[in-house]
Amino acid sequence: MTKYLFFLLMAGLTMACANKDSKTSETQNTETVAVDGAKIFKQSCALCHGIDGKLGANGSKDLTKSELDINARIAMVSQGKGVMTAFENILSLSEIKAVAEYTMTLKAE
Ligand code: HEC
Repeated sequence: MTKYLFFLLMAGLTMACANKDSKTSETQNTETVAVDGAKIFKQSCALCHGIDGKLGANGSKDLTKSELDINARIAMVSQGKGVMTAFENILSLSEIKAVAEYTMTLKAE
């Protein structure tokens, strides 16, 4: 009986450790793969649009009030318009998508 309990305990411990390990590597994976839209926005867009998207400097639009859908925003960021820089040669496609998605989350209060 004691032997049986000991076995259960060891099995439980082994499983707990294995779980912990797999979680750690998962977190590391998403960190390296994920593109941070918020960070790109601060670096490339906030100059004209402001950190909160509302600045409207250089004739840019208040992004919190934009009614463009995600595809139109991806096109906008890629090709630029008027004063707005075209980012297709500056950012990768996944970065453009991530930053366009980030602008969808900016909301007027
Ligand atoms: C040099 C200034 C400048 C920078 C940098 C800039 N924009 Fe713009 N943006 C503008 C201007 C100006 C417009 C308005 C263009 C027009 O309609 O004539 C605009 C328009 C937009 C629109 C369309 C809004 C609407 O409803 O019509 C989106 C979306 C947008 N910008 C996203 C971004 C993102 C994302 C970035 C960063 C990758 C960025 N912009 C960087 C100046 C800028």
